[in-house]
Amino acid sequence: MSAWPDALTGIAFGGDYNPEQWPRETWEQDARLMAEAGVTVVSVGIFSWALLEPEQDRFDLDWLGEVMDLLHRSGISVDLATATASPPPWLSHQHPEILPQNADGTRLWPGGRQAWCPSSPVFRERALSLVTALAQRFAGHPALVMWHVSNELGGHNARCFCDVSAADFRRWLERRYGDLEHLNDAWGTTFWSQRYTDWEQILPPRTAPTFPNPTQQLDFSRFSSDALLDHYRAERDLLHRLSPGVPVTTNFMVMSHVRDMDYFAWGPEMDVVSQDHYLEAHRDDAHVELAFSADLTRGVANGRPWFLMEHSPSAVNWQERNIAKQPGQLRRNSLAHVARGADAVCFFQWRASRAGAEKYHSALVPHAGTDTRLWREVVELGRTLEAIGEVAGSRVRADVAILFDWEARWAAELDSHPSRDVTYLDLMQRIYRALWDLGVTVDLVHPGSDLSSYRMVVAPTLYLTTDSTAAELRSYVEQGGLLLVSYWSGIVDEHDHVRLGGYPGAFRDLLGISTEEFFPLRAGEQVRLGGDLLAGAAAQVWTELLSLRGADEVAGYVDGPLPGIPALTRNEVGSGAAWYLATRPDEMGTAALVRELCAASGVDVHQHGGVEVVRRHGPEASYLFVLNHTAEEVEVAATGTDLVSGGVCAGDVRVPAGSVAVVREEVPQGARP
Ligand code: GAL
Ligand code: ZN
Repeated sequence: MSAWPDALTGIAFGGDYNPEQWPRETWEQDARLMAEAGVTVVSVGIFSWALLEPEQDRFDLDWLGEVMDLLHRSGISVDLATATASPPPWLSHQHPEILPQNADGTRLWPGGRQAWCPSSPVFRERALSLVTALAQRFAGHPALVMWHVSNELGGHNARCFCDVSAADFRRWLERRYGDLEHLNDAWGTTFWSQRYTDWEQILPPRTAPTFPNPTQQLDFSRFSSDALLDHYRAERDLLHRLSPGVPVTTNFMVMSHVRDMDYFAWGPEMDVVSQDHYLEAHRDDAHVELAFSADLTRGVANGRPWFLMEHSPSAVNWQERNIAKQPGQLRRNSLAHVARGADAVCFFQWRASRAGAEKYHSALVPHAGTDTRLWREVVELGRTLEAIGEVAGSRVRADVAILFDWEARWAAELDSHPSRDVTYLDLMQRIYRALWDLGVTVDLVHPGSDLSSYRMVVAPTLYLTTDSTAAELRSYVEQGGLLLVSYWSGIVDEHDHVRLGGYPGAFRDLLGISTEEFFPLRAGEQVRLGGDLLAGAAAQVWTELLSLRGADEVAGYVDGPLPGIPALTRNEVGSGAAWYLATRPDEMGTAALVRELCAASGVDVHQHGGVEVVRRHGPEASYLFVLNHTAEEVEVAATGTDLVSGGVCAGDVRVPAGSVAVVREEVPQGARP
């Protein structure tokens, strides 16, 4: 099944609602305020296991029934949580074996949240018992539009190293490798005398005197993501059986700082892909990271509209300095998600808590109440989302794809590598930033996706590359595509074994180059670049001793450890071209390179300096989102109706500082997709 909830039309609006923290009088007030703000959906019960099942097998669901009834009477839909995210004290007291364990053997105690081992059969059984009770009671409730499994699976318990997980890891390995000989080969266990002679000897990569086996670490990452996905499937399958026709989701964390779940494997298992996003408020390009995460979420959703389950109305409570949002930023950030494919804008949380670890996290209803700037912005956002409702269901299209792969990320960032400065997202986000600056919309897609519609494909830091990915990229280029591959790509196979004969083994022939040795740079070291395109720019982080095997040199190093050696090359293959970037250029160099590649592949660029311009395409019209992140009014070419202001745009739209426009552009008959 794969379906958006029928009851949610237009752009859904709401947030996590935790009425159990408040007296009943507040519930009535909440329902009135939700109606005032235009809230259409709330997620209820996420952390209420302790109240719903106060002791084993004794369920108290009546209060939740009252909440559901009240919301239904007020015209608000419910995304009902299965409440299994945070087990109650009685459960861990009775069954301490469900508690997760760190790599160093420390047991994590209850008292926070999510203190459960993903492989624990005891936890699984208790969770499914609660899900059964909830589904039996609420499956037919008229407010119910979607099920919300657990919460941010893996947020705090993504890797459990306990004995139960160890046994589960061994079963997973047996399925993967069949016998010990294949496992020993894949893990390269002749190295450091690690050869296994019995399955029972195999453990998770617990804290060891020095680097644990890299393939063991990589497989443990794969296993851990699968174990959590398995938990999702168990709850989902039960819900599909007991509550047929109601879509099921769980909220992802597709954010730069979260790396533990392979969401490309998870996406196809969801009825609706949901996403939580929190700004990295310390970054001055936090809105670009937002765009990146939103594009990646759309990739995980395979292009379908997705559900923004959580973001923050203003500050969070868990960063080092919790920066409040500027006036207008709430709406701008919200519409940036919609521009990139979200058909729901929801928040953590509805009403700010009085107690607990998140009492200083902003909420739609702040501690100070409704005579506040924040509440007025919330009401304004509700109006805006209603006004742009017809956008729902339309799709984003992109000419450029960046390949993103969590397995490559896990492998690329293992310990014992040539330079700690080479991290998976570093170059990828620099290239993304340069494209963002040029107004180029990007799809972030998994290797193996159909690339035929893209003018340009970028494979940054694709360290781990399978043979099939290498073959697909070759045929993409042969058929006329422009491919950019960067350093630290195509180095190893799926077992993290080096591809021999000169780096990067997976792409050497396609790129027409071969590298014999890496020359990482010292911290902060800059090397001058020469060649028309990159003259005046600097190389940073990484260089390598590369020789041409058919490719042309586009730029080279002037000084540093490898003067005269190529840094950027281009190889014509079939009717396309494969470029290789052997270093990290500075910002100026990256911008020049990206501009050149867009020109070479026919990708349209528009420079709007700090103004984000993205289109969604529907059958009748397309929608031009203009998000002004600057402190000046801007003018952007547009013809149609601005759904936000209601104004008609004949040639251009004027967008005040910090504000937004969504221009409906009629698609001429005959030009429809
Ligand atoms: C999310 C989580 C919410 C809340 C929020 C605070 O990660 O799902 O329950 O904790 O963060 O920012
Ligand atoms: Zn465990």
